[in-house]
Amino acid sequence: MVNTRRATRGPLHFLMNTTTSSVTRRSFVKSTSTAAALAAVSPGVFGAASKRPLKSALIGTGGRGTGAANDHLQAAKELGVDLRLVMLGDVFEDRLERSIATLKSNAGVEISRGQCVLGFDGYKKVMDADVDIVLLTTPPNFRPVHLAAAVAAGKHVFVEKPVGVDPVGCRSVMATGKVAAEKKLSIVAGTQRRHEPGYLAVAKAVKEGAIGKIMGGTIHFCLGGGSIGKKPEGMSDADWLIRSWGGWAEMCGDHIVEQHVHSIDVMNWFLGGPPINCVSFGHRARRKNGNCYDFFSTDYEFPGGVHIHSMARQVTETWSRIGQFFRGDKGIADVTGLVYADRVYVGGADRKSPVDLGKWERTPTSYVREHMALIRSILDGNPINEAHTIAESSLTAVMGRISAYNGQMVTWEEMMTSSFRCSPNPDDFESGTVKLPAEEPTIPGKG
Ligand SMILES: NC(=O)c1ccc[n+]([C@@H]2O[C@H](COP(=O)([O-])OP(=O)(O)OC[C@H]3O[C@@H](n4cnc5c(N)ncnc54)[C@H](O)[C@@H]3O)[C@@H](O)[C@H]2O)c1
Repeated sequence: MVNTRRATRGPLHFLMNTTTSSVTRRSFVKSTSTAAALAAVSPGVFGAASKRPLKSALIGTGGRGTGAANDHLQAAKELGVDLRLVMLGDVFEDRLERSIATLKSNAGVEISRGQCVLGFDGYKKVMDADVDIVLLTTPPNFRPVHLAAAVAAGKHVFVEKPVGVDPVGCRSVMATGKVAAEKKLSIVAGTQRRHEPGYLAVAKAVKEGAIGKIMGGTIHFCLGGGSIGKKPEGMSDADWLIRSWGGWAEMCGDHIVEQHVHSIDVMNWFLGGPPINCVSFGHRARRKNGNCYDFFSTDYEFPGGVHIHSMARQVTETWSRIGQFFRGDKGIADVTGLVYADRVYVGGADRKSPVDLGKWERTPTSYVREHMALIRSILDGNPINEAHTIAESSLTAVMGRISAYNGQMVTWEEMMTSSFRCSPNPDDFESGTVKLPAEEPTIPGKG
């Protein structure tokens, strides 16, 4: 993004090159087999390997953060590992209180107020503390800074998706991923489909040629919701942006980044890497507040002339679908469903000749499985590092948003060299210099 005013000035004003970086296309084969291995869970085996309890902390104690902490504790239980949640961090007292109460009732965990840190610089105290694992679940704009601090402090990390809202942030996560690899630290991302047995079964079948070479497809994240209210009288700009972060591109990346990154991540996973360019349309009709769009329609182009149509919409009372469809030269793969691949077809284009995907267990959930993979990797001394793939997927989504906002084709190379960073950003929150962005959608092609 694409600060609205700047975006209307010229098509590529935000793509000033300061750095160059080569695009590493990841190996589909490698990522698929790694993910498949992670899905094979052996409960109870790893407890003995842990010489002392593992200690974890949570930064961002909202809905997902508290849920992720629950999943993390459940994962330890599944593996028979002694793991303790010892610290919480947030910027709002009420969020901490609610999280403490929920964790007590859902997971039986007692956390005192003395184990909590408050404030935009609270994450630094968590990094200084005696914890092995940090769960990062604030709004996404903070992720690059928090992740870099965690890895610098030698922590293993669970990062919720997306991991950035602009090119600088996403590339920072790629760089931090490399530091983590050198330090043998694990980074697992909250793109739970990569840990979901149904998706892994589809990925395996596609890799083994069930649909031939992928020639095109469509990915969706179309559902309702999305509006925020008006800023309450007397509330600071910073507090309002945190309370209503999903309504601001500077905070969440717009919903093509915040939500649709799940489908975009599956696209990049199945296509073996990020697209080479995209052209995107979007705007809004229903939303009154904040600066996000209602809908995005994006054509992502991959090497070899393969095009994937991406649809992201948040408009109530309209057609809904969350899923991914790929057309191969021998058949189709169609996955519908929020988390579980319980509506899957892989096979001939007649839709009457499915391939046998085998059977898979629905429990533990993929939300728990991703934490099992994280904990197991730590105890095995065999780090998992999903920083690059989730950063690539987040940046692919950012590329789609930028193209819709400015009305131009945007290339991956531009994303890998652009110095564009949203404002306000985490530095502004820490220094107390946050100003509410213009409360209007960007007009493509204007200026
Ligand atoms: N994987 C999934 O399926 C899934 C589902 C929902 C949300 N998410 C992701 O989880 C993240 C959090 O979403 P949520 O729904 O829990 O939002 P939320 O608003 O409920 O929680 C965010 C929390 O972070 C706190 N916070 C904000 N800035 C902070 C900072 N700088 N330091 C410390 N605390 C800070 C807020 O006060 C709040 O309590 C988002 O990135 C979202 O995209 C993922």
